[in-house]
Amino acid sequence: MNNNVTLIDVSGTKPREQTFWPTVVLPKAQIDAQIESLASIDRPSDGRRAAAVNHPMNTGPVPSFAPGIDVHIVVLKPGEKSEPMLRNSSFVDMCIRGTGTVASGEKTFQVEKFDVWNTPSMQPVVYSNNGNDLFVRLSYSNTPLLERLEVHYIGQMQAQMSASEDDNVLAEQQRNARNAAKPILIGTEGAQLMGYEWLVDIDTIDSKMLHWPWKEVSPHLNNVYGLDLKYTGRHLYVLYNPATERRIGTSHSFFATIAKLPPGKVDKPHRHTSAAINYIMWGHGKSVVNGERIEWQEGDLHFSAPGWSVHNHASREEGFTALTIQDHPLHIAMESLLWQETLKSPILKLGSERGVQTNLAALGG
Ligand SMILES: [Fe+2]
Repeated sequence: MNNNVTLIDVSGTKPREQTFWPTVVLPKAQIDAQIESLASIDRPSDGRRAAAVNHPMNTGPVPSFAPGIDVHIVVLKPGEKSEPMLRNSSFVDMCIRGTGTVASGEKTFQVEKFDVWNTPSMQPVVYSNNGNDLFVRLSYSNTPLLERLEVHYIGQMQAQMSASEDDNVLAEQQRNARNAAKPILIGTEGAQLMGYEWLVDIDTIDSKMLHWPWKEVSPHLNNVYGLDLKYTGRHLYVLYNPATERRIGTSHSFFATIAKLPPGKVDKPHRHTSAAINYIMWGHGKSVVNGERIEWQEGDLHFSAPGWSVHNHASREEGFTALTIQDHPLHIAMESLLWQETLKSPILKLGSERGVQTNLAALGG
């Protein structure tokens, strides 16, 4: 082991210029061909037929489509079932073909095309395909960041995860321990000293797997589709998971939104430190990202907003519907979510200062 720790003199060095991954589209034809190819191979030993979408600029350590977001195309043939795994990564999934059953703990639900669901960390899931067609899903996770931190935990199901009665009694005693470790105020502005008990017994929040069936979601999209073209916000709904609280996410790392833009809508160029990936569910449109023009259509997967790149999207003659995954809640947790709504607007640190105001109230929406 080379133990030569070095010191690097960085006095007076300029900030490192950020490398923006360029906008790219993975076309539907390539996704479809990959699905057929995954369906044609012999069943892998772990039963997982999956392809990772890899951006050409990615340097690893694992395939990813945005620096902190990976997307897998996962296929299950009729009659097949997936192996449950324990992972500390969390997921947002959308079914893009066929139907399947999602089972986790005591929860089981059926999914079909365009249904979305989240999977909390350390919650093993069994997917099964009881239908006649392939069950295909796009699966997004925060794996690339955990792998970069070298802390992506993947374990077998045998690990004991549920608390026993003894554990619960112990937990109650620990809460007593926390209460016994009284915080000590330092100064008058809120600084405190807290005992170790506060580090290892943090307040919990019920982190559940939630399901947004397309049948229930799609009628509401007509509300945003019908908004006036002068609306200055985005024609979308976020699929909100209350466990993410003020970070307005679908998982603790990502939000998923479904947008339905009317024909002829052109968003104002803007930027945010969160990165975005769009899956085009219907229609077509075009974007300008970091000065580069790009077009996309139904079934394409678009790396639509590299973090802090100026971009805007526009619908064409029929409008479009798209799923956007963005690592927005992660940035709010890190206090790193910078947002510039138009290029003339101030750069806001969302979550710490008053946010962007749209004209929704004025439009009577
Ligand atoms: Fe954006």
